[in-house]
Amino acid sequence: MRKLIIDCDPGHDDAMAIMLALANPEEIDLLGIVTVAGNQTVDKVTKNALKVLTVLDRDVPVIRGADRPLVQELKTAPEAHGESGMDGPFVEESKVEESGETALSFYKRILEKEDKVTIAAIGPLTNIALLFRAYPKLKEKIECISLMGGSVYSGNITSRAEFNFYVDPEAAKIVYHSGVKLIQAGLEVTDKTAITFEEIERFKEGGRASKFVYDLFEFYTLFSKRNGLGKTPIFDACAVMYLLYPEIFDGRDYYVDIETGGELSRGMSVADLRTWSKKEPNTTVLMGADRDKFIEYFITSIKRLDT
Ligand code: RIB
Ligand code: CA
Repeated sequence: MRKLIIDCDPGHDDAMAIMLALANPEEIDLLGIVTVAGNQTVDKVTKNALKVLTVLDRDVPVIRGADRPLVQELKTAPEAHGESGMDGPFVEESKVEESGETALSFYKRILEKEDKVTIAAIGPLTNIALLFRAYPKLKEKIECISLMGGSVYSGNITSRAEFNFYVDPEAAKIVYHSGVKLIQAGLEVTDKTAITFEEIERFKEGGRASKFVYDLFEFYTLFSKRNGLGKTPIFDACAVMYLLYPEIFDGRDYYVDIETGGELSRGMSVADLRTWSKKEPNTTVLMGADRDKFIEYFITSIKRLDT
């Protein structure tokens, strides 16, 4: 049983990652959901996290995190997630309230209390960087951080940078220099495990959870359709799926650093692929996965929430 904290910016795919975790209670004990400004403002992404729990009728602590990156102004992604950050599904007003605890206090309290905690970081890494700055000793209580972010070859928000690292490059650099075990679910693996529009149809008939996911995809596939992409990556689900089924992934150990300068490359994750590199690897980068198993595990997990 893995004790997990999800640090996120819901976000359609963040919502699905949360659902994936909650659908596997025999593997994951979800201790809390910490939100961070990214896809939308921290107000909106916190509301969205509460909405996911309302749909599933679950009572997991939701803790509001950083409202802006460490250095630059917040850049949101309405083009992908809409003005609300989770456009599409109608969800009645949340039955669950956000916790009044600060993110730093929550992380400190939980990391001091538990033996080991895993973090799934699926938004900008602002909260994690602030945690490491405030309480560096607590790094040793972290089993690993399975994160959605970065890429080896191409970006998505710019030609070289992936959105989560682009929003807060300084935070990503602090995390990649932290010495904590990192699993990077970057754009290579998210592209390879993207879901097809016909596969999404399998959520059309089903209970509340399936209907919610179908409605999420109704909006979330618009970006792929507008850009002629035949499939939609469920980006953040990869970071949680790795914690459930690591054996279906192709992980390569590389030294990765984050570009914080660079007019064209700010926010880029730079993996050293040279076999003769003297740099000690600091990250397991997921370069691929068994796509059929990924999709099957994802669909069956969501349907498990219907009962
Ligand atoms: O680049 C994809 C990432 O940006 C995902 O975490 C998605 O939710 C957005 O935040
Ligand atoms: Ca996200």
